[in-house]
Amino acid sequence: MRLKGKVAVITGGASGIGRSGALVFAREGAKVVVADIAESGREVAEAIVAQGGDAMFVPTDVSSAEQAERMAAAALERYGRIDVLFNNAMWYRVRPLLEVTLEEWRRTLDVTLTGTFLCCKAVLPAMIAGGGGSIINTSSTGGTVGFEAHSAYSAAKAGVNLLTRSIAIDYGKMNIRANTISPGIVATPNTQKDVDDPEIHPYYMFKCLTGRVGRPEDIAYAAVYLASDEAAFVTGTNLFVDNGWTAR
Ligand SMILES: NC(=O)c1ccc[n+]([C@@H]2O[C@H](COP(=O)([O-])OP(=O)(O)OC[C@H]3O[C@@H](n4cnc5c(N)ncnc54)[C@H](O)[C@@H]3O)[C@@H](O)[C@H]2O)c1
Repeated sequence: MRLKGKVAVITGGASGIGRSGALVFAREGAKVVVADIAESGREVAEAIVAQGGDAMFVPTDVSSAEQAERMAAAALERYGRIDVLFNNAMWYRVRPLLEVTLEEWRRTLDVTLTGTFLCCKAVLPAMIAGGGGSIINTSSTGGTVGFEAHSAYSAAKAGVNLLTRSIAIDYGKMNIRANTISPGIVATPNTQKDVDDPEIHPYYMFKCLTGRVGRPEDIAYAAVYLASDEAAFVTGTNLFVDNGWTAR
């Protein structure tokens, strides 16, 4: 078990990549705090417990500083420490710039970028007190290269990339590691419609060099590595797990 004894907070843990991360982390021995605005996060925690693991669900809107703080406090109260934070919560709408309302722009940044900042801020004191920790922020290939109709999302994810490096720089001496994972296209409830779309599918097959889109586990396994002591020398980096999407 690669994460035995570690306490991991996973935002967006109710669905897709976060949900897979919660299940895989638990299989690797972590105690898991599932934090999500969706009540279905409770079922993820229950599934882990049913399989003999240890998990709790904390309903959390990551865009609220108060709720992020409350979530970290609940994790600490239950488990006494926080070793890993795996941020996945995000919100966005696909629209060309002229159709993006100010409200949508703000919501995208509030959840996807500010939510990541707030959760990092909420758990860092516990990590420092515990002698170190690993922060894994899920970014996107869209934080490095552009996509049609993704201006707000890309701006938020590019922000996540440099927020994460800044944390690595500021807190490295306190044994905090901070890295991003940039997934390519991964089939989740958020993307399944596009993955199944006969017009879009051939483009994905062209961009994904081995000819398949990602499974949530592809990202979860990368996060296990970054969370584990195997990655003790890895910080301030952006790990592309994109089946070569950005290779050309
Ligand atoms: N699926 C992909 O192809 C892909 C590609 C690149 C990056 N990503 C990134 O991976 C992460 C997970 O994406 P996914 O595809 O699994 O999405 P998903 O829609 O399956 O899961 C997102 C989760 O975030 C939660 N959430 C939304 N707003 C929240 C809030 N305010 N507070 C707390 N939780 C909130 C949702 O309830 C949901 O459970 C995201 O950061 C996304 O940008 C995904």
